[in-house]
Amino acid sequence: MDKPASETEVTSSAAAPALRSAPELPALKDWRFNVDQEGIAWAVFDREGESANALGRRPLEELMQIADATEQGARAGTVKGLVLLSGKEKSFIVGADIREFEQFETEAQVVEAIGPVNALLDRIERMPVPVVAAIHGACVGGGFELILACHYRIATRDDSTRVGFPEVKLGIFPGFNGTARSIRQAGALAAMQNMLTGSMIRASAARGLGYIDELVAAPSNLRWAARKAVLARKRARPATGTKALAAKWPVRGFLAGKMRDETKKKARETHYPAPFRLIDLFEKSGGDYAGLKAAETKAFAPLMVSDTSRNLRRVFRLSEQLKGQAPKGSTWKPRRVHVIGAGTMGADIAGWCVASGMEVTLQDLKPELIERGIAAQAKLFGRKFKTKATRDAAKARLIADQAGTGIARADVVIEAIVEKLEVKQALFKELEGKVKPGAVLATNTSSLQIEDIAALLADPGRLVGIHFFNPVAQMPLVEVIAGKQSRAAEVKNAATFVTAIDKFPLIVKSAPGFLVNRVLAPYMMAAMQRVEQGTPKEKIDEAAKVFGMPMGPIELADTVGLDVCAHVGRILGLKADTSKLEQMIASGQLGKKTGRGFYEWKDGKAVRGGESKWNKSELDLLGRDLVAPLIEEAQKALDEGIVESSDLVDAGVIFGTGFAPFRGGPLHYKSSQPAAAAAE
Ligand code: NAI
Repeated sequence: MDKPASETEVTSSAAAPALRSAPELPALKDWRFNVDQEGIAWAVFDREGESANALGRRPLEELMQIADATEQGARAGTVKGLVLLSGKEKSFIVGADIREFEQFETEAQVVEAIGPVNALLDRIERMPVPVVAAIHGACVGGGFELILACHYRIATRDDSTRVGFPEVKLGIFPGFNGTARSIRQAGALAAMQNMLTGSMIRASAARGLGYIDELVAAPSNLRWAARKAVLARKRARPATGTKALAAKWPVRGFLAGKMRDETKKKARETHYPAPFRLIDLFEKSGGDYAGLKAAETKAFAPLMVSDTSRNLRRVFRLSEQLKGQAPKGSTWKPRRVHVIGAGTMGADIAGWCVASGMEVTLQDLKPELIERGIAAQAKLFGRKFKTKATRDAAKARLIADQAGTGIARADVVIEAIVEKLEVKQALFKELEGKVKPGAVLATNTSSLQIEDIAALLADPGRLVGIHFFNPVAQMPLVEVIAGKQSRAAEVKNAATFVTAIDKFPLIVKSAPGFLVNRVLAPYMMAAMQRVEQGTPKEKIDEAAKVFGMPMGPIELADTVGLDVCAHVGRILGLKADTSKLEQMIASGQLGKKTGRGFYEWKDGKAVRGGESKWNKSELDLLGRDLVAPLIEEAQKALDEGIVESSDLVDAGVIFGTGFAPFRGGPLHYKSSQPAAAAAE
């Protein structure tokens, strides 16, 4: 924000009346507050010692003081309006401070803590002078709830400016009366959908929905636009017409039913109760603004202290820990990537890097292979970039490079060619003389040892593993493999690169299967053995989902490819008694890719035999048994020091395998089970 320039602009206005008596300005740490000569109060949220603004206890207490001073000034006629801004360059308010959520033990404590915040937001809403929010960057969760209590909202058109309610992802829903205020502004249909999905909404879309009232081109325009809005006493209008009708009975009841059906398709109520409680709340109180506000707190409190929410908050903290694997304040900024091998993995790695803003050269043995790999990225670019100009710019950043001319300029070189040791060794020997000093040299190998691949290098310490998962665009985790010979600085740079492409890095010591494949393999092998011993595959897959896995192990084996599973099993020395698996592989039944594996595959979906006919407790027990080998292997990986801490093991397994996030990770789950059950 260009504070000095625009503040001068406002204060030096010739039309500015002299102040009669300024309100007493509070001494603040997390906000800057001043009243200019025109009588506009400016409150800039700039939380001390933090890179982003979260609404914790102190900033909220200070906002209360700001509200006091504004009210006092408004009464005295010296303050004409209040503008809320952010002092952080990249974001507005990233939500309530979830670190403080951990202090709540009981529902009563939650209710007690929320009361004053909601009273503050009510005061802002009732302020006798206009309160304007001027937003650039992310404004989400509690921050979004705060601006919805303001009278008028101005946002930059910038792509980084988004509003949204990510609360469901933490096992809760908006608790600062955001349910009532979002429904009032956008109508029940849009607001409920936004709260149920937790999606981030671009500024222009938010304007269309009624959350934002005015758009400006750049952050430097915000203060001027806010000043004008205050002086003109602009006020947002609540939703009217059909938008408002959606909250009225009987439409509300009908909609609630539809929402329940849709939500059931995506989440199980026993695992993720928050969206279901939100729908109940809407159905009961959605037509009554004041009633909904009060009912929201009552329904919110039990969710906040539930195990699900605690574990999902833990997952959020784990994701932060993963990002922390990259050194803070690294001056090394990777921008150019060279990928060798344009097959399944290489092409998608190249596409993902481009989508994250990198310039990428892609190499393979034949031009048609490179072209095919590049063409396959159109879908990703279509999803990531909404305008033709940005899509074209992305395409221009992905450069076919059969001769490998990009190698010398690349900050990161990633090899994703055939999984053959001698071929990889020869390639890296050749690469070593071509890469620039300081560039990261990495292999995407999934089964070879980094030390072996580095064996022929003059400087083997340079080589690290950067192990992506398939499908690259969907998998948030990337394992950074530290070979015994890898230098620590190279490993750290590799982790920095992984965060630069918006993935979570997990530093793993070089060992067969690294972490993720190592824990998955025994789980999948044991499940396949059960099929061989007569348990229906559908029952196994259903039980794993009842436990909370995103996909059952048999369907997963078919999806990964049975040949790949057998290969990983061999590397890990798993002597699985799965003759059926070998038979299927021998007869070319490799799973989804051949149309037949354990399942038959039609239109990309496994054909299942009828409805689930097993009772819940039976599936519950089986689900727990199924994941036992995975948990045991995760413990072994920790004991062997493959990954630094149990939290990082949990993080890797959650983000690498989709392990039931609401259970907080395999080791956390294990430690939270009663001793008798854990010993079973
Ligand atoms: P792929 O067979 O689909 O692609 C390999 C590509 O490398 C082919 O296009 C081939 O023409 C090219 N190639 C071979 N030798 C080359 C050379 N000397 N110079 C340039 N290009 C060359 O293989 P995929 O599945 O993409 O695997 C690549 C690597 O990624 C392997 O090391 C594999 O273990 C690893 N990986 C694979 C995963 C998967 O799910 N497919 C997951 C994670 C890692």
